[in-house]
Amino acid sequence: MSSTIKLLQVVFLAVLAVCVKAQYNDLIPEVDQRCMECLCYAGSHCDLTLKCHNPGGGNYYCGPYVISWAYWHEGGRPGDYGGPHDFETCLNNKTCAEQAVRGYMRVYGKDCDRSGTIDCYDFVRIHKLGAAGCKSDSILNTQFWKNFESCYGSFNNNNVMHSDQYW
Ligand SMILES: *[C@@H]1O[C@H](CO)[C@@H](O)[C@H](O)[C@H]1NC(C)=O
Repeated sequence: MSSTIKLLQVVFLAVLAVCVKAQYNDLIPEVDQRCMECLCYAGSHCDLTLKCHNPGGGNYYCGPYVISWAYWHEGGRPGDYGGPHDFETCLNNKTCAEQAVRGYMRVYGKDCDRSGTIDCYDFVRIHKLGAAGCKSDSILNTQFWKNFESCYGSFNNNNVMHSDQYW
């Protein structure tokens, strides 16, 4: 009898955990295309000819989104067919790199700037600083952030809507 109650408790807690987790995941919105384009613009002016490169410090980044192997890996390894250079091929392809960004944010999306919502401003921080460091306001003084704002702000303001400049 008491083992039946214990079993019911375990089942109840398991169902509760699944519900809470599902609800929590629902709070992370998908990165929309407008945000995506400005993320692309922030890192490289969305230079589609930018391939893999080593900017020093043992880092290695690829493509217009300037993404590392680790980021691609945690973003769900889109375009992984088991080859050693699949991640480079993927990241140098804008569409495939965007799958990595969406996958990464699905895992790590959170309210970095304590605005009360998870939005593009958080995704930009996470993209650049990683989820662990994304609360740092040091990013606000970077060219990366200024690029992002000049892109994203021009979308926000209907009077200066020159979207074709970035898309
Ligand atoms: C770019 O990536 C997308 C999505 O993974 C894929 O469908 C497409 O075939 C790739 N394009 C090229 C030129 O490889």
